[in-house]
Amino acid sequence: MGNRAKLCFTLFLVVTVFSHLKSYGAAVEAGDTLSLGASLAGNQTIFSKNGTFELGFFSPNGSNWYIGIWYAKIPEKTIVWVANRETPARNRSGVLKLSREGNLVLFDTEGASIWSVNMSKKASRAVILDSGNFLMLSGNNKSETVWQSFDNPLNAVLPGMRFGGQQKLVSWKNSLDPAPGLFSLHVDPSGAKQFVVTWNNSVQYWETGTWEDKIFSGLPGLNKSFHMIVESSSSGLYFSYTLKPEYTVLSRYVLTKFGGMQVNAFVDGSKWNTYWSQPGDACAVYGLCGAYGTCNSNSDNGAWDSQDWGSSGCVR
Ligand SMILES: *[C@@H]1O[C@H](CO)[C@@H](O)[C@H](O)[C@H]1NC(C)=O
Ligand SMILES: *[C@@H]1O[C@H](CO)[C@@H](O)[C@H](O)[C@H]1NC(C)=O
Ligand SMILES: *[C@@H]1O[C@H](CO)[C@@H](O)[C@H](O)[C@H]1NC(C)=O
Ligand SMILES: *[C@@H]1O[C@H](CO)[C@@H](O)[C@H](O)[C@H]1NC(C)=O
Ligand SMILES: *[C@@H]1O[C@H](CO)[C@@H](O)[C@H](O)[C@H]1NC(C)=O
Ligand SMILES: *[C@@H]1O[C@H](CO)[C@@H](O)[C@H](O)[C@H]1NC(C)=O
Ligand SMILES: *[C@@H]1O[C@H](CO)[C@@H](O)[C@H](O)[C@H]1NC(C)=O
Ligand SMILES: *[C@@H]1O[C@H](CO)[C@@H](O)[C@H](O)[C@H]1NC(C)=O
Repeated sequence: MGNRAKLCFTLFLVVTVFSHLKSYGAAVEAGDTLSLGASLAGNQTIFSKNGTFELGFFSPNGSNWYIGIWYAKIPEKTIVWVANRETPARNRSGVLKLSREGNLVLFDTEGASIWSVNMSKKASRAVILDSGNFLMLSGNNKSETVWQSFDNPLNAVLPGMRFGGQQKLVSWKNSLDPAPGLFSLHVDPSGAKQFVVTWNNSVQYWETGTWEDKIFSGLPGLNKSFHMIVESSSSGLYFSYTLKPEYTVLSRYVLTKFGGMQVNAFVDGSKWNTYWSQPGDACAVYGLCGAYGTCNSNSDNGAWDSQDWGSSGCVR
């Protein structure tokens, strides 16, 4: 960042913090934290310390509102996590509050609770980290995590996140609706040391190949820029990754609404590039069309884009 940009960014943070202070007294201590009793509403957001991630309300279509986390510094709004994917606030954004009791609660404009995190251990603050993880931290022991968004994945694995066990990535229904779609990625239930993608919780149509020390056998070459770790323990198989130090881009593994796995990297400062994509042949996914018709891998992806899966893209 140039000095001028740094200054602008600092001013922006200061303005953001002050606007929070104005509305909530001393409740918001810093731009990355919700403390007890503090809340976010409308276009108020919190930013991770170095400004990489932002948390607040977003609406894909102007009528359904969600609490989400996105990259703060890139022009294209890219949502990496959604709290209330199945229970949007309608028409207006609502209020996200860290209650005095230490629960995280999302209220709609009528004041009804539409999503919450209510653990037996209570939080004293909630913080958005530079990794994109949103944490609730307990009061008694400042380093103790009560709850974290990384343990409740949506459709993407970010660097530093540990994914596996009983967890699932579940695709968005379509570009305008983060509700669960028909595709999920999870550990192979057969016990093989690999991850699989299934359609409608029933048809398994793609797998990573088994883990062979440094790489999944079906995905050679991914270790070129990623340092991947797979741990196998009594609680199951877990995957995590970081970018090798020579790469300084933003990255994420995503299960797309079409049922493909992609690694996306934000490279030239202006847009996401798909670094890697599987299955290579779209028909391996579209082949699920079997029930509806035949696959045409040349069919315009745009046709798939805004539709619920199964209603288009398959040629009847
Ligand atoms: C945030 O919302 C307020 C009230 O609706 C509005 O006045 C303000 O311009 C908005 N700020 C931004 C940065 O969108
Ligand atoms: C949302 O707005 C529409 C159109 O103005 C209205 O008919 C509907 O009742 C509103 N819904 C809620 C939950 O406020
Ligand atoms: C949190 O859970 C406890 C125990 O189940 C319940 O008594 C309490 O009402 C819940 N609080 C909220 C805000 O949901
Ligand atoms: C922000 O912090 C993250 C995590 O430490 C780091 O990977 C990233 O490079 C940092 N970004 C900037 C712009 O400093
Ligand atoms: C605080 O929490 C950490 C992480 O759970 C734990 O390792 C440590 O022992 C705890 N310290 C105290 C004083 O409870
Ligand atoms: C926004 O998306 C939701 C979920 O798909 C849908 O129910 C709602 O009608 C949409 N609103 C508009 C204005 O398109
Ligand atoms: C998904 O599976 C359920 C039964 O588990 C079935 O009722 C539903 O029709 C299936 N969805 C599609 C799009 O085929
Ligand atoms: C990637 O993994 C393969 C198989 O273990 C190994 O032969 C290759 O050297 C690795 N490449 C890098 C860049 O680490």
